[in-house]
Amino acid sequence: MNSNSKTEWWRRSVVYQVYPRSFNDTTGNGVGDIRGLTEKLDYLHDLGVDIVWLQPVYVSPQNDNGYDVADYRSIDPMYGTMDDFDELMSELRKRNMHLMLDIVVNHSSTDHFWFRESRKSKDNPYRDYYIWRDPAPEGGVPNNWQSKFGGSAWQYDEATGQYYLALYDKTQADLNWENEKVRQEAADLMRFWADKGVDGFRMDVINLISKDQSFPDDDGSIMTGDGRRYYTDGPRVHEYIKELYERVYGPYNLVTVGEMSSTTLQHCIRYSNPQEREFSMTFNFHHLKVDYPQGKKWELMPYDFEALKGLLSSWQIGMHDGGGWNALFWNNHDQPRALSRFADDGRCRAASAKMLATTLHGLQGTPYVFQGEEIGMPNPNWYDISEFRDIESKNMYRIMVEMGKSPDEAFDVIAKRSRDNARTPMQWNYGPQAGFTDGTPWIKVDERYPEINVKMQREDPNSVFSHYKRLIALRKTEDVLTDGRYVRLDETHPQVYAYMRTNDRDTLIVISNFTGEEAEFALPEVHRGLCDSKAELLIGNMKDEPAWGAVLKLEPYASFMWVIRG
Ligand code: GLC
Repeated sequence: MNSNSKTEWWRRSVVYQVYPRSFNDTTGNGVGDIRGLTEKLDYLHDLGVDIVWLQPVYVSPQNDNGYDVADYRSIDPMYGTMDDFDELMSELRKRNMHLMLDIVVNHSSTDHFWFRESRKSKDNPYRDYYIWRDPAPEGGVPNNWQSKFGGSAWQYDEATGQYYLALYDKTQADLNWENEKVRQEAADLMRFWADKGVDGFRMDVINLISKDQSFPDDDGSIMTGDGRRYYTDGPRVHEYIKELYERVYGPYNLVTVGEMSSTTLQHCIRYSNPQEREFSMTFNFHHLKVDYPQGKKWELMPYDFEALKGLLSSWQIGMHDGGGWNALFWNNHDQPRALSRFADDGRCRAASAKMLATTLHGLQGTPYVFQGEEIGMPNPNWYDISEFRDIESKNMYRIMVEMGKSPDEAFDVIAKRSRDNARTPMQWNYGPQAGFTDGTPWIKVDERYPEINVKMQREDPNSVFSHYKRLIALRKTEDVLTDGRYVRLDETHPQVYAYMRTNDRDTLIVISNFTGEEAEFALPEVHRGLCDSKAELLIGNMKDEPAWGAVLKLEPYASFMWVIRG
């Protein structure tokens, strides 16, 4: 048991992620806003979440929906005003809820004042805020690193004849963390928000801030060959994060989660073990790559169930043993809906959504719920490439067609993989535009909103929403959910994922059928003794609970959580 699990409140919390663009529009401009979130705080309070992660609402040209920040201390008028923000803070306080802001400091928008200065001349005082390099000796880009959104990571700038590094969109220029002034600026802007009373930060792609200063070509012998081995969990990353801890996180006692791109377990233990004084917890994405053939995101395959269970298990055990802490999630604004990837988003949609929820919420870590997940929103039905808004999806569609895929094939990949799958408007009711806006939404509302919406589910005790509410409440009452040690129970069952969690008092058991066929599950020999104890059902998703015993019969997508009180 981790000694901090009783003292650190956020280890018993559930976070709700708000993508403000698509949450609730109060002005009729088709884009959600801060007041829209404030208006829904009673809803979130009713759900039981205690931390809200609000995604970027800063001034931005919105090329990457706000992850391209042009002014870190002001609210984009599209989302409202600073007064709206202050009102949100005080309304959260009234409900004893907390706010986590999204901080994007691996890069800034090229519209930021720093970058506009930086590009003016080689001796501008802001030149060194970014990563500028000469063309290669024979001309062209300085090295072969690729942007995560497609194409070279280097952008040529006429004014000074050099290239700047941009690992995402060309309007998102990577900041130069080698420069002490940049590190001071990052700490200052976070202090600004901490002084306003926010409780924590979600740090965008923060494990990419330290680049190998020799900027070598990537020969592709390890990892993907796009350069990531030279800047992922880079040489000085822990030093920089410890500095942020000393300057901001520690003094303000903040809860922090680092988004870790292509990371390792060893690094995440270091990032999130309290003794290291870095972050409270980390996101990693390995379990969401189990449907990428050879790690290729833009190719399709059915997901590998064994790999999924293996990854969840190794992170559960590894983080527990190393004293780290996981941020648990199936969904976010960058991922297609887990419901459509790992279960049935059609006939068994509600059972599937509850099954995935129970499976995740039984694990050790702090669970995150992404808007719409709590009502079982699936990937939307897409009909045409013109319906997509995301810059990555548009780039990738173009690149796939250029590389020889037919437009239909490319569309099929985008429809399954696009980040826009998570970004369609929140479905509040069965009125026009699902109650999201009175105007024209910036991205279409999924046509299934008349059957899938908050209004229908909120009062229904059997809804996906009510299931989430119960799961979230369990985290407050069952200590074993916070501190229990994880043991996998299913070995290599082709349909079932089963595990238990034990502390010095209780044993929690979670058993889920991930398929549309009935399944039979037998407890492994060594744990048969559990059958002699009385198991109390904490939550399930079927009318009938299977009889507790050595062999359990599970209906399609059935999932149960029991506790044996010690
Ligand atoms: C993170 C964000 C994603 C964004 C990227 C660049 O992965 O979650 O939405 O595009 O960073 O900031």
